[in-house]
Order: sequence, then structure tokens, then C-alpha cells
Amino acid sequence: MEWGMANRLARLIPSDGRCLFMPIDHGYFQGPTRMLEQPGKTLEPIMPYADGVFVTRGVLRSCIDPSGAKPIILRVSGGTSMVGADLANEGITTDIDEVIRLNASAMGLSVFIGTSYEKDSLLNLSRLVNEGEKYGIPVMAVTAVGREMEKRDARYLALACRITAELGARIVKTYWCEGFERVVKGCPVPVVMAGGPQTETEMQVFQFVHDGIQKGAIGVNLGRNIWQNEHPVAMIKAIRAIIHDDATPEKAQQIYDATKKESGKGR
Ligand code: 5RP
Repeated sequence: MEWGMANRLARLIPSDGRCLFMPIDHGYFQGPTRMLEQPGKTLEPIMPYADGVFVTRGVLRSCIDPSGAKPIILRVSGGTSMVGADLANEGITTDIDEVIRLNASAMGLSVFIGTSYEKDSLLNLSRLVNEGEKYGIPVMAVTAVGREMEKRDARYLALACRITAELGARIVKTYWCEGFERVVKGCPVPVVMAGGPQTETEMQVFQFVHDGIQKGAIGVNLGRNIWQNEHPVAMIKAIRAIIHDDATPEKAQQIYDATKKESGKGR
């Protein structure tokens, strides 16, 4: 691997080989998502515990102070919305020149396998990889399921992850599922897990993150279950311990409870 590519990946993935990416890109198709109405405010207390931030250029420029920011994964796909005809019909929104100008450590784009726009999104990925490889900028492929959350089974996710790796993604973002080892084993590049909509309890998140890490994921790109939680700092510290310190779900719960107690009432 060339130095520039290796250096960018090393900025995002610390030397233990694990990572906690903080996605705050949801507004690019959802608008002002709950608790992300003011992305800068949401990010401020949790950013110290993240290894990278997944964000669009608009929010990056307007809400994140360039001095002291964490490494950036720039969300470069979009063009659709929750109220539009089809979430899968995305294009590439950001030129490579701007990705370089913004000093991004990586680019992220969604693919929609099994939809009418499968081919378009996979060719978008291929084009992005072609551009990124010229400049040593890695691409994180996001295996999107749109509104069809039931698609999150091992067979579908293994297929989707493998295809994006074959097309050149350097990291793949997917969902945890039953039989997650099948997803990781079939994917020759590192896998990170998204969180999806907020779960009923914190323990559910600790359990799936722990299970996914045990089965070979290198970390998470997990947003709503952190910043929609009443105690986002407690939540990110607990998840960070699972990722970087091999904490059990029970230990993570203790960290969550202790941090919550220290900080008093939530926001
Ligand atoms: C939104 C995304 C998010 O980055 C991804 O889904 C992770 O966030 P969450 O944990 O909230 O699901 O790609 O388009």
C-alpha cells in the first residue's frame, strides 16, 4: 500500500487496529434528525472519544472547527431525501478536488444492492475508488438498506459487503446481524458496524457491538444510539471501552452507569 493511503488509514484506525467512527451525516437525506438539529453542538462533547467523524462537506464547513478536529470521512453521496421517490437513487455529490481541499482522511458513499439503482450505486463506488486511489484517499462503502431494515440478515449483508470490497472499498460499513461471522469472513477488507435506530436499552447496543467485535469487525460507525441517548458521553465512553479495551457488555454498562452518575442529569 502506498504511503499516503496507509497514512490516511492510520489516522482513522489507531495502532490497535480498532476504531470508533462518529457519523453525523444523517441530515443529507433526513434533514434535521432528532438530536442532530445543531450538529456542532451534538458533536462537541463526544468528539474527544471518536477516532473519526463521518460528515458531509456542508456540515463540516459550517459546524466543525478545523483546529483540533478529528480525522474526517467525507460523505460524498446523496441527492435523495426521505420524502422523495427513491432513497437508492443517489449520485456522487462532491468532487475529489474538494475532498483534497478539505483534507479528508477518507470518503464514504452508499450502495444499494438489490434495488433498481444497484448498478448505478455500484458504478458510483467504482468511480469514487478510481479517483480516490489516484490520490491515496480510501473509500468507505456504506451498505445501505434504506427503509427496509428487514434486509439486515447475514446472507444479504455478506453479499453486499463482499461486492463493495471487490470493487475496491478499503473499509465497509454494514449492520450487525445474527451470524455476523459470515459477513466478516466473506469480506477481505475491514468491516465496521452501524447502529441503526435507537434501541430500547443501552445493553442491546453493548451486546451487539461486543459480539460484532468478537466476530472480527474492527469497530463501529455508530451515531443515533450515541447522540440520541440521554447521556451521549456515557454511551460513547462505554462503547469505546468495548472497542479499544475489550470490555464486556457488563463492564460497558458499568462505565455507562458510572459516567451518567458523575455527569448528573442528561442534557
Ligand atoms: C446514514 C449513515 C450513517 O452513517 C450510518 O447509518 C450510521 O449511523 P447510525 O448508527 O445512526 O445508523 O450512513 O446515512
